Amino acid sequence: MTESDPERTAVLSGCPMHADPTPIHDHTFAADPDAVYAELREQGPLASVELAPGVPATLVLDHETALSVLRDPETFPKDSRAWQREAPADSPVVAMMMYRDNVLFQDGPAHARLRQAITDSLSRVDSVTLRRYVTESAESLIRDFGPNGKADLLTEYARVLPLLVLNRLFGSPAELTTRMVEAMTALWDGFDTERANRELVQCIAELIALRRQHPAFDITSWLLAHEADLDDEEMVQQLVVFMGAGAEPVQNLITNALRLWLSDDRFAGDLSGGRLPVEDAIDEVLWKQPPLANYAITFPTRDVELAGRLLPADQPVVIGIAAANTDPALQATRRDGNRAHLAWSAGPHTCPARGTARLIASVAIETILDTLPDMDLAVPDHELEWRPGPFHRALTALPVHFPPVQETDSRDETPGESGRWSDRPAHTSWIPPDTTSTPKRAGSVTKAPRRALNYLGEWLLGR
Ligand code: HEM
Repeated sequence: MTESDPERTAVLSGCPMHADPTPIHDHTFAADPDAVYAELREQGPLASVELAPGVPATLVLDHETALSVLRDPETFPKDSRAWQREAPADSPVVAMMMYRDNVLFQDGPAHARLRQAITDSLSRVDSVTLRRYVTESAESLIRDFGPNGKADLLTEYARVLPLLVLNRLFGSPAELTTRMVEAMTALWDGFDTERANRELVQCIAELIALRRQHPAFDITSWLLAHEADLDDEEMVQQLVVFMGAGAEPVQNLITNALRLWLSDDRFAGDLSGGRLPVEDAIDEVLWKQPPLANYAITFPTRDVELAGRLLPADQPVVIGIAAANTDPALQATRRDGNRAHLAWSAGPHTCPARGTARLIASVAIETILDTLPDMDLAVPDHELEWRPGPFHRALTALPVHFPPVQETDSRDETPGESGRWSDRPAHTSWIPPDTTSTPKRAGSVTKAPRRALNYLGEWLLGR
């Protein structure tokens, strides 16, 4: 990559910035992104796209060029402030792209410091405990809609579950979790977003204050105790990025993989095969329909020549993660089980929670398939709709039906106690002692989380 001069610029032919940008935020793109990527590939490894009306960007389409961008943070830094000054303030993409004091938007030593605190804290998450959190949250949500014989697995399951699990990892009490889930959902739905934003930050501030006063075995306490010595403002920013970067992609990994399982004979026909097919469905989604389909955005501070094209200073460069994963050149060399996909990105900002995210998704999928083995899609696969937007590969709903599971009197029981719901051994406590500084006695905490989950279920269903 070299810095360009005006003469050189003049001779660069076919610059994608001179082509009419192709929208990647509309229904046409959402309905068939692969067809749009195929057309865009005619421009070469880079294409001119529109992230929202009046927001042009360069999309990187091939795997090799994507890696070269992701591994060159000096040429392709994350700081978006110069772009933001010129961007339409009311654009729907500004919220995702605006500069924040969190790990995602930092470069160099500032990034390394925050990243170390995050990776050290995540590395302390024990997979057995995490698996239990996911199973318990999943069983509780399924218990809410099981008697109905039908559900929208997006709003009633996949959307709430990662938030519940993340909040338990954060050491958040049930009441705060409820408020945070409400705020996050309002943000997703674009409903009273200013209030929702304020509420989210307020909840996180309360959680930080709580864990400063009462440190426990959770991510918030580990971040607070980290040698990076994060102040309260930095703590809020990092927890917001955990929620933002974590919840929606996990939701989409769960729903996209469940959809594949329920609609594709290769998976649906393999029900007796145990676990492997779930992992295969997850892998296929990470390759072909990655939850973050176009992301890992950078903002070169000067005009940059890349792959024979000119990229203007301060204009976003977006990695076409789905396009790079399905790059025909890569397919020729790809072997089964190869994890070279870019679903987690690559380079210094690669997702630090790959293992965590994958475990949450696979346990969530296994739990619902074990509990509702006769579940089917409620509409033909081709009638499912994909949500328009430039970044996420997300369904608008995943309606299913199944033989209703009889409601029992066990709604306030500890998950696992009812044989109808699970064959797993009963847990002795709903909130595990290792998330609190004072161990709780078994049975003393079983009711509060159920009440919170009931409330969430009703609220999400608009009841
Ligand atoms: C299927 C689920 C997930 C996917 C597909 C995913 C994907 C990604 C990608 C592509 C990036 C790079 C973003 C960029 O460069 O701009 C990223 C970064 C990040 N992810 Fe994930 N992620 C997932 C789940 C999670 C979860 C569950 C957490 C937290 C528990 C998390 C925390 C983060 C953080 C903190 C970053 C920023 C890292 C940095 O800037 O150094 N992610 N993720």
